[in-house]
Parts: sequence; structure tokens; C-alpha cells
Amino acid sequence: MSEVRHEYDVLVIGSGAAGMTLALKLGRHHRIAMLCKDDPTEGSTYYAQGGVAAVLDEYDSVSSHIADTLNAGAGLCHEDVVEFTVERSAEIIKWLVELGVNFDTRTAGDGSTEFHLTREGGHSHRRVIHAADATGREIAETLSDHLKELHNVTVFPKYVAVDLITRDKIGLRGKDCVGAYALNLDSGKVELFRARYVVLATGGASKVYLYTSNPDTASGDGIAMAWRAGCRVANLEFNQFHPTCLYHPEAKSFLISEALRGEGAKLILPDGTRFMPDFDERAELAPRDIVARAIDHEMKRLGCECVYLDISHKDEAFIKSHFPNIYSRCLDLGIDITREPIPIVPAAHYTCGGIVTGKYGTTDLPFLYAIGESSFTGLHGANRMASNSLLECIVFAHAAAEHIDSHPEASNEPLAIPSWDDTQVTNSDEDVIISHNWDELRRFMWDYVGIVRTDKRLQRARRRVQLLNQEVTEYYSNYRISSDLLELRNLILVADLMIQCALRRKESRGLHYTLDYPGLNDKAEDTILTPPSFG
Ligand code: FAD
Ligand code: SIN
Repeated sequence: MSEVRHEYDVLVIGSGAAGMTLALKLGRHHRIAMLCKDDPTEGSTYYAQGGVAAVLDEYDSVSSHIADTLNAGAGLCHEDVVEFTVERSAEIIKWLVELGVNFDTRTAGDGSTEFHLTREGGHSHRRVIHAADATGREIAETLSDHLKELHNVTVFPKYVAVDLITRDKIGLRGKDCVGAYALNLDSGKVELFRARYVVLATGGASKVYLYTSNPDTASGDGIAMAWRAGCRVANLEFNQFHPTCLYHPEAKSFLISEALRGEGAKLILPDGTRFMPDFDERAELAPRDIVARAIDHEMKRLGCECVYLDISHKDEAFIKSHFPNIYSRCLDLGIDITREPIPIVPAAHYTCGGIVTGKYGTTDLPFLYAIGESSFTGLHGANRMASNSLLECIVFAHAAAEHIDSHPEASNEPLAIPSWDDTQVTNSDEDVIISHNWDELRRFMWDYVGIVRTDKRLQRARRRVQLLNQEVTEYYSNYRISSDLLELRNLILVADLMIQCALRRKESRGLHYTLDYPGLNDKAEDTILTPPSFG
């Protein structure tokens, strides 16, 4: 039986832009535990390249950013949430600048210094503020440095949250979330975290696919934990594939930022022909779903392994100063982007759906919040517009912090929560089941639940995922847990939820494109799934 127990006001699970922002906002008045599976800065936030979308230019407007977001979201964005988010974009950037985030600047026509804004797909203005091509690293490191100064915040690196604890799960009345169990990767023991408020900030689930731009942390843990605890999830059929990930045997997950296209890079076929104007009048700057589908179409039509992104017509100094990270990573791999096109393929990038939340990050369970990529706020609709994610993380982390601050009623009564019981399980002697099932899941999700879908492919995937679920559930009950097993269990559940959502949508909208229903329904509706333990 596990003996280690922790007690905090707020338990934040996840240390990306969402989790760190919330911890910073609350850390002066609340005792906070922040868990992360790896080092605190490891997660999608750290790898974000392009930047943060915000209305900062006098020629831009809130209404234009809202209109572009709604347009990219293909009729499914919640307009009130889009307004809520975009209206806060300028003050969020001000907050980051005051913390010391060093965004790129340029000299304006009148000699003054202003932020350099870049452009990405779907945006009708230059409105993406950035720190060269490593914006996420700059934000993550700045937030993390500030957190180190807050004595109330304790970071627990290498702690993997296993499951949420709710009152009903421990035999009491009510569904209040009162804490979580987490596996300490150093000791191999499961510890108990009791907290008055629990915040899921665990990021997305793109690791469900074989090819992804995401780091290993993106295994949908928060979505799976919330579902098991009784929260609804929505719109998980909308998996965003980033059009341009580097195609190279040694470059796992490396993204080639959309900002290259914003600065004039062109997509070309292996014979050098430009093809995007044939698919959309916005060409390379069409929203991501359109560009990724066009690339997929051309690769299948020609039977080629990749297409190319070419920025070599731009000035060498410009490329090196705007994209130093991409330039040097590609050069290390023998590709000089100032002189030759970059081989690219689409890869899974962003989970548009997630845990159903209100405007302040509230979920279906009292005292449980979800923020960042793990949540479904209604902002992105059927397709997220570039650079709206970091914005969402920070806006909703602020909003959830406000909500927690203004709702002090969560109880800190002592509860007799049972310790994690692993007396009935043994060490596994067959870890190959885990590695085999990982590979199988990610491959069939890529092949059957990818950029272009059919009901037949989705049903094939559903049968396989159900089989994996049976095997892994049995394995989970008999053997001691490890982080690989926990992630696999979560990915299988989230894959199943994605397939269920995809099967329910009988139309092609945004990122969900199916050959069986190529048209658009008159009415745009969210796909909401309700767990057996809801209510
Ligand atoms: P993450 O930053 O992914 O953090 C998740 C955290 O949760 C990690 O600390 C992880 O350890 C922790 N965690 C997960 N599960 C558990 C568990 N079970 N127990 C404990 N801890 C757990 N968006 C933009 O807006 N602009 C961009 O320029 C941009 N570029 C991108 C480039 C790349 C390569 C990628 C992958 C994404 C990019 N995105 C961009 C998307 C954006 O970065 C993410 O959506 C956003 O950073 C998610 O932040 P988050 O805080 O929700 O989660
Ligand atoms: C990119 O830089 O292309 C990623 C931007 C995003 O995902 O929003």
C-alpha cells in the first residue's frame, strides 16, 4: 500500500503554458503542487515555433481576428468564446512582456521600435507575435523562471498522474474532485495528492498517431482521466495535421513553422511545380486543413514520399535571422534551406476537441478545471487557426485562476482517501505487449483515422481499438503500472473516443474529411460524448 500523501490547495497537472500560467497567477495566495511527466519545460509549449496570435497592430482589429478564427473553424466555433479569447489577446501579450518574454521587434517607419508580427494560414493580417522561430521555448523558460521565485509552488517533475479522485469514488456523496493519484517515476510508487481544486493542463493527444509533431508527453492523459472520472468530451474527430513537418529519417517530429509560408515559402512537387493555387485562392496561406489535404492528395496521386517547401528565393540573411532554429536543425541534417527546398510531410499536430469546459475552465465535476490543449472551450471549431493555441492556453489559465480565487468554497475537510493498493499485482514479465500495442495503435490510427476517412476505415479502427482495450485493461489489472502502460491505456481510450466522434459526424467539415459524406450539413453541431459515470 502506498503511504506518501500530499495536501495542497491546488493540484495542477501539467506544466506547459496553461499549467504554468495558472500556477503563477495563483501561487502568491495558494499552496500549489504542479506535476509533470518529465522536466517542467518538456511539453508542446516548449516546441512552439510560429508564435501567439494577438491584435497588436493599428491596422488590425479584434473583429478581423474573430472573423478569421470563425472562418478557419468552419462554422463550428462558439462565437462568444472566440470573442472572449480574442478580446483578451492584447492584455495577455502585455502580461507576457511584463514577465520578460522577449518577443522580436523591428524598427518602424518613424524610427520607433515595434513588435515584429508575422503571418500564418487563415490570418488576414500580420498578427503573430513571436520570438524568432522558438516562441514556445522563450515563453516556457520565462514562466518557469518566475515560478522558481514562488515559494508556495512545488513542482513535482517525473510524476505521472494516474487517475482523479472524486468523492463518489471513495464512497462519499457528490462528484467533487478531491485529488489524484500519481506515479513517482523515481521510486516507482503511487502517491496521493489531496487538493481542494484540481486543474488538468495535460496538453493534447497527437501521440495517438504514428507521425506527429508533438513530444512524447502528448498522450491524452488528462482527457482520459477526466472521462473516467465522469466528464463529457467533445469534438475529438477534429485532429489537426500540420502540413509541414520535416521528412527525414533522423528528424523525429521536427516542425517547419507555418511562418515560413507567411514569409513567402512555396509548396512544390518533386518536379518543382507549385500546386497550392490549384486548391485554394489563398494558396500556401489557406487554413491548415486545406493545405494538409492538398499535400496528402498530391502525395497519393504521384505516389511520392514527400513534397517540398521552398524559401530559398528569400534573402539568406533574412532566413537566418527569422528562422535560426529551423535553419540550423536542417543544416545539421544536410539541408541548407537558404539554397534548396525542404522535404516535408503532414503530421498530427493538435487535438481540437477535449474535455468540455465553460469559459472559466470549469468542467462537469465540481472543483475540477481543464485548460489548454486538453480542454474543449469551443474556440477552435472544426479547425484551429495557427497560433490561437498558446493564446487559448494563457487566456483560459487566467480565467480559471480568477474563478478559483472567487470561489473559495472548496472544502479542505480531512477525507479518508484510501492509498493506492498494488498488493494484488506483480511485475510484468511481458513488456512486449505494451510496445507492440503502442505501435499497432499508432499505425492503424494513422492509416484509418487520418486526413481522409471513410466509415469502413473508422469501423476497422474501432474493432482494433476495442481489442487493444480488452488486452490492456486485463494487463493493467494484473501488473504493476509503468508510465508506458499508463500512456498506452490513455491513448487507447482517447483513440476510441476520437473514432466514436468521427463515426458520429456524417459530413465533411474542417479537419474531419470523409469520402462517404463529402458535403456539409446545414446545421453545425458539436459532437459531445457522455461517459457512463456522468451525472
Ligand atoms: P503542453 O505544453 O503540452 O504541456 C502538457 C504538460 O502536461 C506537460 O508538462 C506534461 O508533462 C504534463 N502532463 C501530461 N500528462 C500528464 C500526467 N499524466 N501527469 C503529469 N503531467 C502530465 N501553438 C501556437 O499557438 N503557436 C505556435 O507557434 C505553436 N507551435 C507549435 C509547434 C509544435 C512543434 C507543437 C507540437 C505545437 C505547437 N503549437 C503552437 C500548439 C501549442 O504549442 C500547444 O497546443 C500548447 O503549447 C499546449 O500547451 P498546454 O499547456 O496545454 O500543454
Ligand atoms: C507553426 O509554427 O507552424 C505552428 C503554429 C501553430 O501550431 O499554431
